Amino acid sequence: MLRTHTCGDLRLGHAGLTVTLCGWVQRIRNKGSLIWLDLRDRYGVTQLIFEGETATPTLIHQAKELKREYVVKVRGTVRARKDSNPHMRTGAIEIQVQTLEILNTAKTPPFLVEAETDGGEELRMQYRYLDLRRPPLQDNLILRHQVMLQTRAYLNQRQFLEIETPMLIQSTPEGARDFVVPSRMHPGQYYALPQSPQTLKQLLMVAGFDRYYQLARCFRDEDLRADRQLEFSQIDCELSFATQADILTIFEGLVQHIFRNVKNIELPQFAHMTYTRAMELYGTDKPDLRFGMPFVELTHLAQQGGFRMFDDAALVVGICVQGCAGYTRRQLDELTDFVKQRQIGASGLVYVKYNTDGSLKSSVDKFFGQAQLSTWADALQAQPGDLMLILAGEAQATRQALAVLRLKMGDTLNLRNNTQFAPLWVVDFPLLEWDKTTQRYHARHHPFTAPRPEDISSLEERPEAVHAQAYDLVINGVEIGGGSIRICNRAVQERMLRILGFGNEEAEQQFGFLLEALEYGAPPHGGIALGFDRLCSLLGRGESIRSFIAFPKNNAGRDVMLKAPAPISQKQLEELGI
Ligand code: AMO
Repeated sequence: MLRTHTCGDLRLGHAGLTVTLCGWVQRIRNKGSLIWLDLRDRYGVTQLIFEGETATPTLIHQAKELKREYVVKVRGTVRARKDSNPHMRTGAIEIQVQTLEILNTAKTPPFLVEAETDGGEELRMQYRYLDLRRPPLQDNLILRHQVMLQTRAYLNQRQFLEIETPMLIQSTPEGARDFVVPSRMHPGQYYALPQSPQTLKQLLMVAGFDRYYQLARCFRDEDLRADRQLEFSQIDCELSFATQADILTIFEGLVQHIFRNVKNIELPQFAHMTYTRAMELYGTDKPDLRFGMPFVELTHLAQQGGFRMFDDAALVVGICVQGCAGYTRRQLDELTDFVKQRQIGASGLVYVKYNTDGSLKSSVDKFFGQAQLSTWADALQAQPGDLMLILAGEAQATRQALAVLRLKMGDTLNLRNNTQFAPLWVVDFPLLEWDKTTQRYHARHHPFTAPRPEDISSLEERPEAVHAQAYDLVINGVEIGGGSIRICNRAVQERMLRILGFGNEEAEQQFGFLLEALEYGAPPHGGIALGFDRLCSLLGRGESIRSFIAFPKNNAGRDVMLKAPAPISQKQLEELGI
């Protein structure tokens, strides 16, 4: 190696030692004949000093040529610093430099390559390799590596085999659009990149591998968000001869193992909640349980008071926000504007303040007296000092709007603390979902999810009442993973595909391979996939999964550094028969 130590190694105990370090120049302070410099590498920052008898005019001259991000090799002696810096791991020492070699020069970087930078997002994405030099991003990718190691350690110990599945496949319907790849050898035909290895991992179970996992790359052509990328990774798993309860136990154990070994965090036992209960109490199938504020239905208590918004509503539902009775008119107006935004879509917001003197003051005093308001307060278990916020309208839309308001109040009151974790299994999902636009049923998880055995007989008569053997893992309101017990019988799989609107021919053409495999001794099996990037971002307390991916796409789905996507040449198109 060109160096004897890294920039994160040296401590007071090394004083007197002659060392050689390599790294990037982070900062230079020049006081004429005295020059300090911070040298950075992946392991840390070490202060270099050019001073005293070793600082010959030639060395000082060389040091003065240095600029930010030059790559250098220095040789010098470790010594104690006069003013040690407790914020740096190497803050007790500095290196008195004897020789300096410039290994490479660097253009002035377009933004500060330090923990706190001045570069805008787009510019940093364009120079991602410079952004990745910054310690917070280095920490994120190191964390990602550790999560990977711990995942493998845990699963390997439990007889899971890591098996790779192909990237060029035929499309698997997971609800998003496929990315397709034209075939040169078969003009006019296309491969699809996997949205997940779902069907392939099922075939591995038919093949008898019993326990499979893969840190699988998945591709989905969907709109990007803070927790969505076009290509992302899953901890993808499948097991044979296991019940839903077995699967939840093993993967609860995996997530606990990762938190413990990567971050030294002991997670509590995971809560369980049915889908129906989650929708009733929190208006979403991914509730953030770091705080309470459950929904309370007020429909029967609030109707027939002559207030149109309530009387015409299918649902009147509220939350109790503790300690906020003192909200000003302006604060309440802001909340009303918030819920009336187009994306949230509530027609209005009703509030009731439970004043500390015991009186109730509402925005609907014209229609409701104290006695009636106090029945609402009882239902919402409000105490003096609390604020009740109520929405009304069509049931599903109202629940969705209140779910957003609940999260906003959680944020406002700092109840969504990112050092706290509230893991939850959501279970008993409906198997199907009616899509108003296409006038068809869609599989809520995917078409291979098994119905509950006792519901199979009602598949055709009452599809909407059928429950799936499916589960989601939710942590702090983020869907971290999802999975199910699979259909392992051809006849049931065919019935399922028919309900989803596949004709026999289409089913055969798209899923013939799987249907056939189910006839050759498919064991009962099930599995789960955890969103690897989301899990890393949760552990690293990041705002976006982008910060945990080395080379992510921007919000418009572009890699601005590689300039992808981009047109291809006419020649390439011709070769592909396009
Ligand atoms: P699902 O589609 O629920 O299930 O995906 C599993 C998990 O993957 C993560 N995820 C994403 N992460 C980043 N960007 C995206 N665009 C993205 N989409 C999904 C989420 C999600 O919970 N084959 C099934 C799993 C199974 O049944 O075993 C599947 O892919 O955290």
